Amino acid sequence: MHSPETASKLALFRALKPSGRKVVMLTAADYPCARLLDEADIDIILVGDSMGMVTLGFADTVDVTLADMVHHTRAVRRGVTRALVGADLPFHTYETPQQAVESARALMEAGADAVKLEGGISMLPQIRAIIAADIPFIGHIGMLPQSVREEGGYKKKGRTSDQAAKLLDDASAVDAAGAMAIVFEGIVAAVAAEMTRAIRCPSIGIGSGPDCDGQILVTADLTGAFPWFRPPFARARGDVAGEISRAARAFAEEVRGNGEVALVEPSHSR
Ligand code: KIV
Repeated sequence: MHSPETASKLALFRALKPSGRKVVMLTAADYPCARLLDEADIDIILVGDSMGMVTLGFADTVDVTLADMVHHTRAVRRGVTRALVGADLPFHTYETPQQAVESARALMEAGADAVKLEGGISMLPQIRAIIAADIPFIGHIGMLPQSVREEGGYKKKGRTSDQAAKLLDDASAVDAAGAMAIVFEGIVAAVAAEMTRAIRCPSIGIGSGPDCDGQILVTADLTGAFPWFRPPFARARGDVAGEISRAARAFAEEVRGNGEVALVEPSHSR
């Protein structure tokens, strides 16, 4: 049973696709980022397991744990009053329907409004169990980052007609199961457009062309906060890394420079 406030946010969200308004989704892993995104009127703030790379320093998402996700979901929840908060079920935490529901409940108790897991038809028992437990669910199909080691890299999906047909079947099945939205990651644009037309819930694209019902980016890619890697489809609209480096170097210069620096204004003590 959702709170009246969450129920009304979910109802407003469901009205977006029929009204033609695009869904805007970004990731956050900490309080200040979540609060800034909420204040910027973002529709869904996702505590994505991409934080494994951009926050925790892992090579991929595979080593992120449920405890990591719970910890960061709590921090994000504290910063958000308006948007919906989504949270990723990390790798190996939804092997069975029962485990999926238990892991999803842990994220909901940490403050998520919805959970997301990767996979289509092969994950239907888990997806149905989550939805039957009254937990709002976001699907994720196409390129699946949790399978990167198995697949030997991040590979674009939908290049062959067999792949396109399988993606369409996956999207239709996840939609029919009752997903509130489905992330389409790394899918050939024309295929993503066709899948978008075929489903009732909104598609949220990432590297899948302009014709999805909404778009998501990893916020560090958008703000330029992770300069060591950015996927080719993500255009940075900021230079947070440059600003941090500039401020740190300016501070170091002041401290090491002439030794006359007022490090803290008297009124700024904490
Ligand atoms: O973990 C994540 O940030 C995601 C998005 C890239 C869709 O799943």
